[in-house]
Amino acid sequence: MDKKYGIQIIGTGAYLPEKIVTNADLEKIVDTTDEWITQRTGIRERRIVEKGTAASDLAEKAARKAIEDANADPQEIDLIIIATSTPDMFFPSTACVLQRKLGIKNNSVCFDIFAACSGFLYALGIAKNMMESGQYRSCLIVGAEALSYVTNWKDRGTCVLFGDGAGAMLIKRVEGETNVLSVLLGANGAHTGILEIPAGGSRYPTTHETLDQGLNCIRMDGKEVFKHAVITMLKAAKKALELSNKKLEDLALLIPHQANMRIIEAMGERLNLPKEKIFVNLHKYGNISAATTIVALDEARKQGIVKTGDYVELVAFGAGLTWGAAVIRL
Ligand code: UT7
Repeated sequence: MDKKYGIQIIGTGAYLPEKIVTNADLEKIVDTTDEWITQRTGIRERRIVEKGTAASDLAEKAARKAIEDANADPQEIDLIIIATSTPDMFFPSTACVLQRKLGIKNNSVCFDIFAACSGFLYALGIAKNMMESGQYRSCLIVGAEALSYVTNWKDRGTCVLFGDGAGAMLIKRVEGETNVLSVLLGANGAHTGILEIPAGGSRYPTTHETLDQGLNCIRMDGKEVFKHAVITMLKAAKKALELSNKKLEDLALLIPHQANMRIIEAMGERLNLPKEKIFVNLHKYGNISAATTIVALDEARKQGIVKTGDYVELVAFGAGLTWGAAVIRL
């Protein structure tokens, strides 16, 4: 008889760089105010890497914490997936770099995925399928971002929004039921232009001109993205719940992507979910793209807001446009 495999989340970890950049610090470099940033976004400060620190450095620190949390042997990890928009380099993958840094010598499968802010949930969906097929038994999934390198520090419309950091999750294959109940993913390429880093790839290779014009940095039509974010995350959250056969009332916590407090509040209102059931940490870190939901989940676990057996839903949205939602049992 064929075995039925599921997966269990056995550890999480996060790492945020020590350097804090407050709204007041940003007032000194662009025409902005703490009041504007706080009222329009909810962000008060963000963490920024020191020069020389790359995504894999952040990923390593978060991954070590997740491995320690799980009390696991890194040599058993046979699948490493990193979601990032700021890889160390185009190739080799940041996941290969992480494998080396962790001293894993078992030829584990390693790759990066690009799905912007939805990246961690894309990675979780891929891991779920690869592991439940029975082929892999231990997977490390990381969301790691060093966005400060692709931030245009002259553009007040974007530089106040983003931060650096990493989060990691260790999952193991089990026989029987799965604790990742549903992962719903989607994308709509019709809106690629409203949130992008236009240059540095093969469309606009890096030149003096692309650098001078800030095209190697994040560009966003914030209002457009905002509109799509609320509607799309709501739909994704509802659909993933439906696929998991759970109800909103079953959730101990909803972890939405941390891009803007007004987006989070609009979601909460439309879902009619009490504030205590919606996790928020964007005041401390801003938007850390692919690292956002896993950093938040790790904080919620470590702060005792959620515990083993609780149902939690993660939902994210980002460039692509991409989106993802997952219902998990801790
Ligand atoms: O991670 C992917 C998902 N990303 C998102 O979900 C982001 C979604 N978008 C947003 O969060 C919001 O659209 C922003 C926070 C980016 C912008 O807020 P907004 O309320 O949509 O402002 P706006 O872009 O319409 O700008 C309003 C005004 C403009 O001035 P005028 O034209 O009215 O004179 C901007 O130039 O605010 C100005 N402005 C600023 N003023 C002070 C824009 N950025 C700033 C700033 N400080 N940092």
